Amino acid sequence: MWDDLKGKAAANADRRIEALFDAPGRARDFSVSALGMLFDYSKTNIDGATRDALIALLEKTDVAGRRDAMFSGAKINETEGRAVLHTALRNLDGGPVTVDGQDVMPGVRNTLKRMDTFADAVRSGEFTGQGGRITDVINIGIGGSDLGPAMAAKALAPYHDGPRCHFVSNVDPADIHDVLAACDPATTLVIVASKTFTTIETMTNARTAKAWMSETVKDPGAQFAALSSAEEKTAAFGIAPERVFGFEDWVGGRYSMWGPIGLSLMIAIGGDAFRAFLRGGQAMDTHFRSAAWHENMPALLALVGIWHNQVLGHATRAVLPYDNRLARLPAYLQQLEMESNGKRVSMDGEDLAHESGPVVWGEPGTNGQHAFYQLIHQGTRVIPCEFLVAAEGHEPGLEHQHRLLIANCLAQSEALMKGRDLDEARGKVAGKFEGDELERQAKHRVFPGNRPSTTLAYPKLDPETLGKIIALYEHRVFVEGAVLGINSYDQWGVELGKELATALQPVVDGDEDASGKDGSTAQLVGYLRANGA
Ligand code: F6P
Repeated sequence: MWDDLKGKAAANADRRIEALFDAPGRARDFSVSALGMLFDYSKTNIDGATRDALIALLEKTDVAGRRDAMFSGAKINETEGRAVLHTALRNLDGGPVTVDGQDVMPGVRNTLKRMDTFADAVRSGEFTGQGGRITDVINIGIGGSDLGPAMAAKALAPYHDGPRCHFVSNVDPADIHDVLAACDPATTLVIVASKTFTTIETMTNARTAKAWMSETVKDPGAQFAALSSAEEKTAAFGIAPERVFGFEDWVGGRYSMWGPIGLSLMIAIGGDAFRAFLRGGQAMDTHFRSAAWHENMPALLALVGIWHNQVLGHATRAVLPYDNRLARLPAYLQQLEMESNGKRVSMDGEDLAHESGPVVWGEPGTNGQHAFYQLIHQGTRVIPCEFLVAAEGHEPGLEHQHRLLIANCLAQSEALMKGRDLDEARGKVAGKFEGDELERQAKHRVFPGNRPSTTLAYPKLDPETLGKIIALYEHRVFVEGAVLGINSYDQWGVELGKELATALQPVVDGDEDASGKDGSTAQLVGYLRANGA
């Protein structure tokens, strides 16, 4: 099957993507329209036979069986013995979902109701700080306890009608310093977001925030909330149980923004808009579970990814939202995709037979065009691009500017596919140069083209649409992981660095010497200590 795909890749290596459009209906046939969105993957070198072979991978690896197992609460996170049920958090009007014979939905609904009540109280001014109505909310968390709500809070800025929302994640004191400097402790709510309540960055920042608040506020614990399952630890930190919002071990960190980890977002946009976000995610779940593979948006997004990375060997993937408020989407997807599918061992403990997931990176357009697109167009490596664009913006009176944004987005995918050959390039410089100089100048203006891209177009970045987009990417990661035989839901690869950082702290503090360390590490400690650390 993989050999068949590699054979197809080799056989069509010189084919121009553009030539595929000679077939009538190419664009329509290699697109999926669902839930009001359009996913167009026609500007890739995938033809009908290749798509069939890719879909055969889904059958061979029983992705449907694994998908149904996930939704039904089976413990598909096998290395940790856990179910994977972030979908239950958005199962607003669905039926029961059982784990170990117990329906988890009553608990999910109860927590959502508690979040709603608390968010309403903060937004209405019923919940106050020592100095009155809450003006600022600081979410302290890292990884999945930060990236999701931070990304979504920026994405949904036009829907904010609650207090200002800030996000602190880095243990670098600069991060918390700059946020605290902008807030009044007497009217600030601090949300400590940590599933485990042990993550060193989060707990260090939480203590710093508490010390800051204690300088002004008599009962700082009263202006703290926690998003965590570790009740003893939240209590020991001084946060009353009524402001602790827990979630079960079947919600992975990078999949957690649909539940309590989304509290800061809910406070910013309100319970109704937050529910619309959940409804969007749920709609994508229904689509993923019911659409045939050739009309299934997450499955096809995944297969395009597999074609580009594991079959063609393109090691990176650029995510290019032509939607400035999705500026944090690439960072969010870096964790979602790279922490999920950056594994070298398959579920059964064998070395992975194929490459692991790709390097994901990106920036919003049009900014990226004036930075790294040069390499995408003319560099020696092929970088598959994923464009995202909304039909409509949120800025009345500036519709012409939004249309200019759209034109730029579409122009990039067109330019990547078509390129510019030497003849056309000569035409660009003819008249300015002649002879050898004309040839030399023309060569610099050649674009090889034939560079693949996909485009996801959607009506408007509202809460429901954002929910659809995020769930789309979650399921894409699931499908890629299932095809590759990866457990997408553990993250052992982050452990070693954490352990070594803990061991290095006393060395950096000067309480232990660096003699047991390698020469480079010892030298760096020496330099940093000699210069002020
Ligand atoms: O970096 C590893 C990780 O465990 C992520 O998976 C997680 O999102 C993050 O740390 C934060 O964990 P916690 O919510 O327990 O603080």
